[in-house]
Amino acid sequence: KDSVQIGLLGLGTVGTGVLKVLTQNSSDIEQKVGKKIEVKKILVRDINKPRRVEVDPSLLTTEVQDILEDEDIDIVVEVMGGIEPAKDYVLEALHRGKNVVTANKDLLAEYGKELFEASAEHSSDLFFEASVAGGIPIIRPLKECLAGNRIEEVMGIINGTTNYILTKMTTEGSDFEEVLKQAQELGYAEADPTADVKGYDAARKIAILASIAFGTRVTFRDVYVEGITEISREDIEYARELGYVIKLLGIAREKDGVVEVRVHPALIPVCHPLAAVNDVFNAVFVRGDAVGEAMFYGRGAGELPTASAVVGDIIEVARDLNLGVTGRIACTCFTQKRIKPIGE
Ligand code: NDP
Ligand code: HSE
Repeated sequence: KDSVQIGLLGLGTVGTGVLKVLTQNSSDIEQKVGKKIEVKKILVRDINKPRRVEVDPSLLTTEVQDILEDEDIDIVVEVMGGIEPAKDYVLEALHRGKNVVTANKDLLAEYGKELFEASAEHSSDLFFEASVAGGIPIIRPLKECLAGNRIEEVMGIINGTTNYILTKMTTEGSDFEEVLKQAQELGYAEADPTADVKGYDAARKIAILASIAFGTRVTFRDVYVEGITEISREDIEYARELGYVIKLLGIAREKDGVVEVRVHPALIPVCHPLAAVNDVFNAVFVRGDAVGEAMFYGRGAGELPTASAVVGDIIEVARDLNLGVTGRIACTCFTQKRIKPIGE
């Protein structure tokens, strides 16, 4: 075949960005992969909905089997979100020997084990860089570049919506509900923004990072979670008077073989680098015994930044296909460590 063919599940914020990046950078991408990357079909709920990107209407379908049963489709890119039916679609794609790229942290933080087992069984690639911190490269750096370290801590701002809300409340005195609406309009928030403001989205992301960093399975249910719904403008003002800003942090640590994972608002001294991480930006600190401290910074949500991570994964899988070496993420080995119970 002279092209790598893709089936896209979803054409919302992230799917639109993926289509834009694949189109605007097509010749560079072809050069990097050695083959054209073509989007063959796109699954949506509503074919007649106006789209924010030019798309050939014959590519759109409401039948997932048009993608899963198409033997020419090499990579299924899941950017539809939610657990069901995304989980069934991803598992079926893996069982059919297709490679999968997903941005779906809900799915990975709950059903990572099933997904990794399916990808191992069928030697398919399963890549998920966009699932944590949008456009920031953090999954592959943790899994690959920092693999020589014993990681002690992963910590940071990993939800763009709440950081955007806290920033606007701090710098402009904005109203919580009003800024949340803006974050939704900008495509930052989840379909149900409760997941953002209650800290569940950050909890799913820190569960994914902790699993990779400490080589153990951490799920959403292992994470102590407190969101930002109780933070008032008065709290922000008092913090400011004392020389602090309030940020929602995800924190994962391993000490004496026990892994502790939590998400909650924290007071950050204004001179700390995390205090300067504003708007939709995210930042992740990693501390390892060899590297010391490393910090990753960038846009944590939104159409093009997230598409940057998804398309990076697509290119990586396409290169694997060229080399005949798929099944890479499946190589992650876990030993089950003790996870500190919530409230202990
Ligand atoms: P959107 O809600 O904007 O888009 C979802 C898309 O999937 C839509 O095109 C929708 O179709 C389609 N879809 C949803 N359910 C179905 C279904 N049952 N059958 C067929 N099509 C369906 O979501 P986002 O693009 O914002 O997010 C997608 C994923 O990426 C989520 O997992 C999210 O957590 C993750 N993510 C999002 C980021 C962001 O900044 N938004 C950043 C990082 C990750 P239709 O258009 O017809 O309604
Ligand atoms: N809703 C998420 C956020 C999208 O605001 O960070 C990126 O994962």
